[in-house]
Amino acid sequence: MILQSLEKIKYKVISCKKCSLCESRTHAVPGKGNSKAEIVFVGEAPGRSEDLKGEPFVGSAGKKLSDLLEHVGLSRDSVYITNVVKCRPPENRQPTKQEKKACSDYLNRELEIINPRIICVLGNTAYSSLLGGKNITKDHGKIVRKDKRLYFVTFHPAAIIYNPKLVSPLKKDFRRLVKVLGKIKNGSPMEDFL
Ligand code: URA
Ligand code: SF4
Repeated sequence: MILQSLEKIKYKVISCKKCSLCESRTHAVPGKGNSKAEIVFVGEAPGRSEDLKGEPFVGSAGKKLSDLLEHVGLSRDSVYITNVVKCRPPENRQPTKQEKKACSDYLNRELEIINPRIICVLGNTAYSSLLGGKNITKDHGKIVRKDKRLYFVTFHPAAIIYNPKLVSPLKKDFRRLVKVLGKIKNGSPMEDFL
């Protein structure tokens, strides 16, 4: 298998016309962050601010994500942040099945190259796309092993904006995520945290 660089994927995304979201976007939004990241965060799709800037999680949801990272002592530069779909759906509607499928190659390649210790799935869209899950409210905090990858499931940071009651469970999930990462690095057996 030929591993491409993240840089190459970025250029492919920027000029991609594989689905109709390319017609309404201002900028495509490739993933951003550390190519050696131990954690990759996967959101849904770019919003308005991201579309304007061409970078993931730079608007109000991004501010919440930054706050959560800071809460657990992680810098944005140390992790990698990306989305299921790389172009903004009009009016921030959810991406369609076709759009998610058309875009899935990019996320798969990002994950292949970075090969993180754990992938943090943010919200229901990423949860259903990556793991076929449905209910974040019930499943948040769970660890899922699939195709030799490890996933951690939690709410989308934007959920806090509408529902402040989720601040505390989200913070708790992020603390657990970092704790789990520590255990993985220590070589703890999977049964310890699954
Ligand atoms: N919401 C997402 O899911 N991704 C972003 O990049 C911004 C907001
Ligand atoms: Fe290409 Fe993905 Fe953008 Fe569609 S959403 S045009 S597949 S980069």
